[in-house]
Amino acid sequence: MRIIINNYINHSKYVYIIKFFKKGDNMIECYLKAGEIVSDVRKEASKMIKEGTLVLDLVEFVESEIRKKGAGIAFPCNVSINEIAAHYTSPFKDEKRICAGDLVKLDLGAEVNGYIADSAVTIMADGENLKEDFSDDVLNRNAEIIEASAAGLDAAIATVRDGVEVYKIGEAISEAIKGYQLNPISNLTGHSLEKYNLHAGLSIPNINNHDTTRLEECQVIAIEPFATDGVGWVNDSPGAYIFSFISDKPFRLKNTVKVLKNIEKNYPYLPFSGRWLTKDFKPARAYSALKQLSEAMAIYPYSPLKEKTGCWVSQKEHTVIVEKEGCSVTTL
Ligand code: CO
Repeated sequence: MRIIINNYINHSKYVYIIKFFKKGDNMIECYLKAGEIVSDVRKEASKMIKEGTLVLDLVEFVESEIRKKGAGIAFPCNVSINEIAAHYTSPFKDEKRICAGDLVKLDLGAEVNGYIADSAVTIMADGENLKEDFSDDVLNRNAEIIEASAAGLDAAIATVRDGVEVYKIGEAISEAIKGYQLNPISNLTGHSLEKYNLHAGLSIPNINNHDTTRLEECQVIAIEPFATDGVGWVNDSPGAYIFSFISDKPFRLKNTVKVLKNIEKNYPYLPFSGRWLTKDFKPARAYSALKQLSEAMAIYPYSPLKEKTGCWVSQKEHTVIVEKEGCSVTTL
């Protein structure tokens, strides 16, 4: 995802601590609180992943639960199915339903005072005729795809500590996934997190990318391995339902100006969904403005990402705080 410049906190530990006391917002406590909320909502929402569930009901459940528990939504809830690896959320009045046997990736994020937790899980949707509609081979294969990204994440977490080079995390993920005769998705990465900044500059690779940048104590990173029986590469697919504000620009159409002002006011730092704008605008007006704003790059559109060969993809993600001798997972 796009990097949003945030000067509020920089990487220096010293500055972290100064800001921490000056602002009085307990950074670590906020990270832990956001993590707890994400983890609770993820577990609750996972139970809805079965045949017949409307994707819209699932994303709205996740987003409203995050709010109810006292956090903000860090990004629109992503529900990406089968060959779609990431970046799908329901548009307004989405009628898409989960089918039995689907590989459903649920990726959600919450923020407390701007400190973010980001976590994802993959579930094969249960259904009445699952056993009749799919052979054991297919079901086992899907279970392995799910297991592989989980194994990748475990291997990555075991690698994280102060001073470790980030390529070593990617290498651990890649080796774990290849152990299942599957491939990691090489052009998707995890990311560092900072206050109101979902992708704070550092990418956490899912392969050995030879990046020798070292992790530092107190850094917060989201690690998100993706596994597939395809080639392990994703491309943009049509449509975009998630966006980020980039910059204010002049537009002739009044409607477009109003929508952009609304976005700048409500979602200046973190990604938003087109669906959210339909609270304040007629859907047709919101979507025509989003199209124009995207074309002019006043906002950034995130297209759903599809595995190149159309093969199915799993994802597992946790947020961790880097420590001297290891790390703490905030979203367990
Ligand atoms: Co993430």
